[in-house]
Amino acid sequence: QLGLETKTIGKMIHYQETVESTQKIAHQLANEGVQEGTLVVAEEQLSGKGRLMRSWHSPKFSGIWMSLILRPKIPIHEAPQLTLLAAVAVAQAIEDTTDLKPQIKWPNDILVNRKKVVGILTEMQAESDRIHSVIIGIGMNINQQLEDFPEELQEKASSLLIESGGTVSRSKVIQRALFRLENLYELYLDQGFMPIKDLWESYAISLGQVIKASTVNDTIVGKALGITDSGVLLLEDGKGTVHSIYSADIEIQ
Ligand code: BTN
Repeated sequence: QLGLETKTIGKMIHYQETVESTQKIAHQLANEGVQEGTLVVAEEQLSGKGRLMRSWHSPKFSGIWMSLILRPKIPIHEAPQLTLLAAVAVAQAIEDTTDLKPQIKWPNDILVNRKKVVGILTEMQAESDRIHSVIIGIGMNINQQLEDFPEELQEKASSLLIESGGTVSRSKVIQRALFRLENLYELYLDQGFMPIKDLWESYAISLGQVIKASTVNDTIVGKALGITDSGVLLLEDGKGTVHSIYSADIEIQ
């Protein structure tokens, strides 16, 4: 009923109205050996997971909560590239379905008018240095009104409805996101990360700006120089030292 135009991505769809987290189901399915491209979609998550151990607000029928299972034959340290790939695909899908101009905040928050409308959580299963599966969890705020968000999120978060002023078809957004994901994934398997990196940079909001990166034990303020070939963020502090940031919370100063 989604009218998918894809060959592998979303060919198998595991749909459930209410789940704890689509991420959790995707992990189970990946362990059971389901085929690459299997997608888990729900209308509502009771304990949606965000990055950095946060929770993700996922109310019924108003967003897209989905997790995609990929099985790329790449070394573990290249897995973050897929997060950036997913962010580009979702940004393209937003452009395909609205008049909005999405931007990406490293690594993979998608902002519209500087407010977060999409979050992406990439997790992987690996044995020794072999990737078994990569699970890309995508949470898109589509038709929430501002009052649907918890008060503490209202300043920073938004939905496509709020930003575009009209209802957006969730199935159309899913369809375009899967189409874009499949195209970019094929490009990536064929030509590597370089073309994806260029696209990612064309949407990036924070490059060249001074940002604050908070990691678990440290806070670094510096100029965002760019990303490396494996998707790591490079920050130059006031003393000229360049730091590689693998995982952090970014605030644009
Ligand atoms: C973030 O913190 O920005 C990432 C949020 C990721 C949310 C999505 S919704 C679908 C999938 N299932 C989850 O429990 N989390 C991800």
